[in-house]
Amino acid sequence: MCGIIGYIGKREAAPLLLEGLKRLEYRGYDSAGMALVHQGKLTAFRSEGKLSKLENKIGAKTPQGTIGIGHTRWATHGKPSEKNAHPHISKRVAIVHNGIIENYLELKKLLPHKGRELKSETDSEIVCHLMDAYVAKEENFLLALDQVLKCLEGTYALVIMDLKDPKHLYVAKKASPIVIGFGKHECFVASDIPAFLAHTNQITFLENDEIAVLSEESVDFYSKELKKIEKPIKEIAWTADMAEKGGYKHFMLKEIMEQPTAIRDTLLGRINKNKNQIHFPEIEKIFKGRFPNFNRFYMVACGTSWHAALAGRYYMEAIAKIPVSVDTASEFRYREPFIDKKTLLLVISQSGETADTLACVAMAREHGAKVISICNVIDSSIPRLSHATLYTNAGPEIGVASTKAFTTQLAVLLMLALSFGARKKSIDQRYLKKAIDGLSKLPRVMENLLKEKEKILKIAQKFVNSRDFYFIARGIHFPIALEGALKLKEISYVHAEGYAAGEMKHGPIALLEHNTPVVALAPKDRVCEKMISNIQEVKARGASVFIVASEGDKRFEKQNDEVFYVPDSLWYLTPLLISLPLQLLAYFVADLRGAEVDQPRNLAKSVTVE
Ligand code: AGP
Repeated sequence: MCGIIGYIGKREAAPLLLEGLKRLEYRGYDSAGMALVHQGKLTAFRSEGKLSKLENKIGAKTPQGTIGIGHTRWATHGKPSEKNAHPHISKRVAIVHNGIIENYLELKKLLPHKGRELKSETDSEIVCHLMDAYVAKEENFLLALDQVLKCLEGTYALVIMDLKDPKHLYVAKKASPIVIGFGKHECFVASDIPAFLAHTNQITFLENDEIAVLSEESVDFYSKELKKIEKPIKEIAWTADMAEKGGYKHFMLKEIMEQPTAIRDTLLGRINKNKNQIHFPEIEKIFKGRFPNFNRFYMVACGTSWHAALAGRYYMEAIAKIPVSVDTASEFRYREPFIDKKTLLLVISQSGETADTLACVAMAREHGAKVISICNVIDSSIPRLSHATLYTNAGPEIGVASTKAFTTQLAVLLMLALSFGARKKSIDQRYLKKAIDGLSKLPRVMENLLKEKEKILKIAQKFVNSRDFYFIARGIHFPIALEGALKLKEISYVHAEGYAAGEMKHGPIALLEHNTPVVALAPKDRVCEKMISNIQEVKARGASVFIVASEGDKRFEKQNDEVFYVPDSLWYLTPLLISLPLQLLAYFVADLRGAEVDQPRNLAKSVTVE
C-alpha cells in the first residue's frame, strides 16, 4: 500500500506534492520521491526512509515546475532503498505506482534488452520501459498506455508523466485506489483524499480499468475500450484528519474494514487457479525444489502473532500432516529447545522488530536451523535475519491492536500448509482445488460479513459496562478465542480471558456470575455439539452468552441468546471469518467506553524491548 500523488496546474507543484505526501505517509513510509517537468527538463529526487529525508535532500532550492508526481512507498517487491524508490524514470516516462504487478518477471522478456535496462528490484519499473517500447511504436501516448495496461496482471494505480508532453498527466487503475481532485485551474490525483483535501473537496474516484488524462483545466475519462466517458464530481465533507482514516473514526476500524483488500493482496501471486497451485517462490529458493526433510518444526511469535501461530499448527498438522510445536518467543528463547541443522523455525511478526522473536531467530541461526518468517514490513530486522520471508501484504497497520495483519498471517499459514500438503501428497488435487476456490472467494465473503457491523455494535452496547469477559471455543477456534480476548482487553482495559471450552469445568467456570458475558465460538464443525453443551453449562451458571455460529444453523434460534452468524465455510476459512466480529466487538466496546482505541495505554505498535 503506497501513497501516490500528481499535480498539474498554474501553481508550483513541488510544495503541493510534498504536502500531499505528508498526508499520505500513513500508507507507507520506507522511501519517497518526486519528479517534475519544467521547460522540457525533468528534475527528480528520491530517498530511502521517511519523507523528511526527501525534504532534506531537496533542501531550500525547491525544484520548479507546474506538473509533477510524488510517491511514498510501502515496499512489496525490492527492499526499501533509494534505487527502489519511486518515481521510476525511463527515456520518455516517469511513473509512480501503487499495487503489485504479478507478471513483472515475464514482462521483462518483452523489453528490447530483456530487462537489462531496469535499474531497480521493483515490479513497478517495468511499466516505464514498456511505455518507452510501446510509445516508440504507437506515438499516441494514450494508445501506448492502453497497450501496456493490457500486458499487466495484478493491481495498479498508476500516475504517468510523458516527458515530451508537460500538459497532461495519465492515470490508470486496477484494484488500487485512485481519486481525482478538481481545483481552480489545477487538478490533483492521489491514492487518497487527504493528499489534496486542503485545496479542493470536489472529487471523482476512478473505477477499475478506467483511464484519466488530466490537464490544467479539465480531466478526460476513458473506459477500458478507450471510449470517452462522463463521470460525476462529488463534494466531500470530510476534515483532513477524518480523511486520513478514510472517514472512519479510528485507524483500527479502517484497518478492520480493509481486511478483504489485505487478504486479496496477500493471495496475489501465490494462488494459481488455472494450474491448481499454491506457490511460494521464497520457499523454493531455500529448499531448492525438494521437500525439506527437517525433523523438528517450531512456530514462535508474540501476542496476536502467537495466536496466529497456534491456529497455524492446526493447519500444518491437519492438512500437511507435519507435527509442529508452538511457543511464545519470550518462553522459547529460555527453555533450551532442541535446535539443530534439521530444525525448521517459522516466526511470525507483523512489525518484524519484536525483540523476543528476533532473539529466537538469532538463536536458531546459531544452531544451524533454517528460519522462515511471516512479516508485514519488508526488510525489517526479522526478514533480514531469515533464510526466507513470506510477506503479508496488509499495508501499514497503524492501530496498535493488530487486525488485518492477523487475518493475513492466517491466510499465509493456510496457504503454506496447503502447499506443503500438496507437495507431501497428504491432500489430493481435489482438496487443493476446493481450498483455492474458497480462498479466492474469501475477500468477497469478508466484505459481505463486515456490512453487518452494526449488529456487533448493538451487542457491544449490551455488554459495554461488563467487568469480565470469557471467550470460549474448541479446536482451531480456541486461538481465535484467545485473540478475541486480547483485542478486547488491550484496547478497552476490560478483563477478558480466552479458554478452551472443555477447560471451563476444570476451574474457570467458578468465576461466572449473573450476566457475566461469555463469547462462545460455535461454528458448524465436528465439535459444535460439544460447544452447545459448554454453552448450556455456562448459562446454567448465569452467564449472558454471545454466540458466533454458522449461517443456517437452527440450533441457536429461540434461545434468547445474542447470536451472530458467519457464512458456513470450509473449516480452515472459518477462523478468518470469526475473527471479524471479535475485532469489531473489541473496537465498539472500547469506543463506547471512550478508550484511546488507536494508542491504548502502556502499549506500543512494535515491542522492540524485552
Ligand atoms: C496485538 O494486537 C498486539 N498489539 C501485540 O500483541 C502484537 O501482536 C505483539 O506485540 C507482536 O507484535 P509483532 O507481530 O509485530 O511481532
